Amino acid sequence: MDTPLVDRVADRLRQQDWCVMDGALPLSLLDSLIERAVTLRRESMRPAGIGRETDLALDRSVRRDRIRWITGESEVEQAWLEWAESLRVALNRRLLLGLFSFESHFAHYGPGDFYRRHLDAFRDQPLVSPSCRVISVVLYLNRGWEEDDGGQLVMHDRSEAVVIQRVIPAAGRLAVFLSDCVPHEVLPAVRDRYSIAGWFRSNGSTAAVVDPPG
Ligand code: OGA
Ligand code: MN
Repeated sequence: MDTPLVDRVADRLRQQDWCVMDGALPLSLLDSLIERAVTLRRESMRPAGIGRETDLALDRSVRRDRIRWITGESEVEQAWLEWAESLRVALNRRLLLGLFSFESHFAHYGPGDFYRRHLDAFRDQPLVSPSCRVISVVLYLNRGWEEDDGGQLVMHDRSEAVVIQRVIPAAGRLAVFLSDCVPHEVLPAVRDRYSIAGWFRSNGSTAAVVDPPG
């Protein structure tokens, strides 16, 4: 893990709820992830919300992306999970967040697809959100993306009244934010848009619910 990168992410997250970095990943890993995302898109991404009980019900009025959870079944997925694991350990050292595990999926938004404004976790409502997501990361996998291509990630402040950042989903760019503090949305694009969305989670186990399951 690139220490200056983690230091920059940690410094930012001490000051504010989010940060955006370019060039966070080794280029060879980025290349392989782009290739993998495009291959999976052809073969087997599924409408988001299907096959995962903790997800929101499948609702095409809320989100239209297709996803594939990353399980480490290929070498490049393992390399990504290792990279995320180093980030988890490094952030824990610096921010004492107690990040316990990581989950992530590839996502593909076709032209016109969107994800309406949402939070990735609700700290006050553990029953609505048993996922214990603490930090969200989104890595973008789109070469040659222009502003006019759309597909920006728009982050709002906690009150939802102010746009705090618009992120163009360009290859290698990494958005990091607190899962329960930053309402965000994905605007429709005119091109195919690929990304990986991931979440560092705290350990939400209670006597009644073993988390994560399985
Ligand atoms: C998500 C999400 C943002 C993006 O998958 O929860 O908010 O820019 N993705 O792809
Ligand atoms: Mn989200």
